[in-house]
Amino acid sequence: MKQKGEKIVALSVYDAPTAGFAEELGVNLLLVGDSLGMAVLGYDSTIPVTLGQSLHHCAAVRRGAPATFVVGDMPFMTFQVSIADAMKNAARYLQEVGVDAVKVEGGEKMAETISRMVGAGIPVLGHVGLLPQKVLISGGYRLAGKTNQDAERVLADAKAVEGAGAFAVVLEGMPADLAAHITQSLHIPTIGIGAGPECDGQIQVSSDILGLLPGFTPKHAKRYADLASVIKQAFGDYLAETRTGQFPS
Ligand code: KIV
Repeated sequence: MKQKGEKIVALSVYDAPTAGFAEELGVNLLLVGDSLGMAVLGYDSTIPVTLGQSLHHCAAVRRGAPATFVVGDMPFMTFQVSIADAMKNAARYLQEVGVDAVKVEGGEKMAETISRMVGAGIPVLGHVGLLPQKVLISGGYRLAGKTNQDAERVLADAKAVEGAGAFAVVLEGMPADLAAHITQSLHIPTIGIGAGPECDGQIQVSSDILGLLPGFTPKHAKRYADLASVIKQAFGDYLAETRTGQFPS
């Protein structure tokens, strides 16, 4: 698709019905992101998400979208402790829930881990730029690559991930011109989020574009629906009709 100039459309989803809708519409790649923490589990970051929770939701997405390329996003501390640990945990995604690949956050520092995973037959999607799993030390969700020095670092991270054998890389939260430059510099596809229009594809968190979390729309997200209002209206109607005896008829 990169070679043909066709945009890759990716979506973070967490449950079987939503995955099924995305498959029906031909979404190219489904990520069971660790955004699961905020989108579904009620946490305020991705840090608390566990391997068990991620695998549980990957299994649901796999069942809902059996014919789509599904990627499991390895949570905080499931791949950083040691390479052996990372490989064993990554294998669980392929063997226990049958997803097609895993995603790991990090650039140069994760290159050896990615290389060992790919060498063992585990397809890896990289993720560089703004790294939500580093939010506790970066002090917030800050754009990456704003200074020349930082932009060089992000480019080096992307190249390291490519060199390690990742099949594609997510570029998160960086200036559009940097993402465009990285996209031109790599052979593998780039999938952007908050990284401008020049990436080879885009990824969005489904609950952001559906308007499921009222009061929270990150800058990079476009709200295509207001499902929170639709759900509240339906619950309200059910409540009222049950209390007045209109339901069940
Ligand atoms: O967790 C997630 O959904 C992600 C994407 C936004 C890339 O990492």
